[in-house]
Amino acid sequence: MEGSKVEKTFPIKYEWDIVAMRSEVREAARQHGFSELDQVRIVQSVSELARNVVHHAEEGLVHIELVDEDEKSGMRIVVQDFGPGIAELNQILRMSESPAAVEGYGLKQVRELMDDFSIRAVEGKGTCVAVSKWKEQSDSVDHQS
Ligand SMILES: Nc1ncnc2c1ncn2[C@@H]1O[C@H](COP(=O)(O)OP(=O)(O)O)[C@@H](O)[C@H]1O
Ligand SMILES: [Mg+2]
Repeated sequence: MEGSKVEKTFPIKYEWDIVAMRSEVREAARQHGFSELDQVRIVQSVSELARNVVHHAEEGLVHIELVDEDEKSGMRIVVQDFGPGIAELNQILRMSESPAAVEGYGLKQVRELMDDFSIRAVEGKGTCVAVSKWKEQSDSVDHQS
């Protein structure tokens, strides 16, 4: 069977864009059948990434995709901006592996809350973070063990 996909894009520039976006993302996650806990993980992550756009870049986009395929069902989120990029990205990611890290805690948290995490930053061009959360497949009818 063909998988279905629902997509939505939210422009992010001001704090109040985040407020509106996060409630829509939460509702989309709820309707897609995510548990309360996963809804919180998703909303926490997308809020943190959008806050990074407002604070560290100038403006950007939050793009969500609800994926419903045979193999997996879940949500992909891409947060993109055309800000300064992250010159110290490797250092930040390395630092954020240390439990005592204070800086870089936001990205560290997002990486822990979501199932997939990837980040690409090009100096002077912008930053793109892609994360996803997949639903448990245990209730799938044709699950093969
Ligand atoms: N979208 C972004 N554009 C530019 N720099 C960013 C972006 N996101 C994060 N950064 C840089 O990476 C650092 C770590 O981000 P984060 O883990 O969210 O911590 P915090 O936002 O609390 O500083 C930030 O301090 C900032 O320098
Ligand atoms: Mg942050």
